[in-house]
Amino acid sequence: MPRELTQNRIQKIWVPTKDGAGAPHFANPPTVIVMVGLPARGKTYISKKLTRYLNWIGMPTKVFNVGEYRREAVKNYSSYDFFKPDNESAFKIRQQCALAALRDVKSYLKDEKGQVAVFDATNTTRERRDLILKFGNENGFKIFFIESVCDDPNVIASNIMEVKVSCPDYKDCNKTDAMLDFHRRIECYKSSYQPLDPDGYDRELSFIRIIDVGRQFLVNRVQDHIQSKIVYYLMNIHVQPRTIYLCRHGESTDNVQGKLGGDSGLSTRGRQFSMALSQFVKEQELKNLKVWTSQLCRTIQTAEHLGIPYEQWKALNEIDAGVCEDMTYDEVKEKYPEEFSLRDEDKYYYRYPAGESYQDLVQRVEPVIMELERQENVLVICHQAVMRCLLAYFLDKSADEMPYLKCPLHTVLKLTPVAYGCKVESISLNVEAVNTHRDRPEVKITKYIVTKLGYYMITIYKHITYY
Ligand code: SIN
Repeated sequence: MPRELTQNRIQKIWVPTKDGAGAPHFANPPTVIVMVGLPARGKTYISKKLTRYLNWIGMPTKVFNVGEYRREAVKNYSSYDFFKPDNESAFKIRQQCALAALRDVKSYLKDEKGQVAVFDATNTTRERRDLILKFGNENGFKIFFIESVCDDPNVIASNIMEVKVSCPDYKDCNKTDAMLDFHRRIECYKSSYQPLDPDGYDRELSFIRIIDVGRQFLVNRVQDHIQSKIVYYLMNIHVQPRTIYLCRHGESTDNVQGKLGGDSGLSTRGRQFSMALSQFVKEQELKNLKVWTSQLCRTIQTAEHLGIPYEQWKALNEIDAGVCEDMTYDEVKEKYPEEFSLRDEDKYYYRYPAGESYQDLVQRVEPVIMELERQENVLVICHQAVMRCLLAYFLDKSADEMPYLKCPLHTVLKLTPVAYGCKVESISLNVEAVNTHRDRPEVKITKYIVTKLGYYMITIYKHITYY
């Protein structure tokens, strides 16, 4: 057996199977991220986006939105009266909702293997924040505050318009009335708002204050690696409208032969795609489009016809199939049958002997994601596995779904940020190509059906595909 295969076997002792045994093990105490700020300051946007990023890098994270607990407790929201400082009965309900959310944070971090919980609420008073700090102390959780401060009326109005007027609180209300009510709701919080005080009361706390949607930042006492990653991420994102285009290279001669990896050039149809892509880009009439490729021949040849300068990223190279490079799936199955079935068992964590896993790939492309967050319009010409990793980030897909996302050749995915997520359009450029997608293998599910006469066992073979 080749040396690299032996090494890989050792690795697989701890590389996971279905029960997730190969998921990362964390030595650090879990973290509670506590949002702070008046309503309509982008707290939920930041919570969701950060959660998506942390999950994507392999840090199990979940948002706990106190507004949702309140909507569950009080089914029919009537008006901003509920948030008036002198509304004692409503105050009690709000307090109970916050405590219920904290109880769920505790179960998530202690019993459900969560590593980061995002406590998404206004948390505008010292009293509330002290309660959360006490909760963190009692349970051994680190607390990191993210405060969003913004007084620009245009930003606040567009935030209310984009996400608040359509929220369930205003389901039976017209937009103008909803807008008015929400502004009054904000006023209810203003009198009691105590911003974080970096030089006095809160000087010992760990936090970042985001001023005017990222114009300025104030960072205080970052405690560890995860907090520093969070700070770095928050300092790179922006909310300007833009579009990201993802596609693979044109069909390569290796694709035609069904081979994995390699560095072949484009087939005739691949060259046709590169010309169709050039036409497509012209039709999009984009300002300052940046084009990124990998350092492999097939993406560079695809970009050549665009007539736009392009940047080559080694980090965008295709997954390294190690000893299986240049082989077809049938050859892998024949030469390394055990490897073939191990990969089917857990495609995300499986690492090719002397090559990479999808998990490795996420680490490798993380700088690309960070730079994409900084940019405006970008076309990324990459490869199947790399495109799946990037797409999983934008569409919030799990590690389990990622390796089966459909990224066909000669198809552009157009990603546009909307409200709390990302809209995706799949645009085929109508140039035929081989299909390189391999579906998730069938999984055997055994079910027991209990009847009065006894119980039956049935076996279902289920084929799960995503996207
Ligand atoms: C809400 O009930 O919508 C927000 C709760 C809070 O003030 O955090």
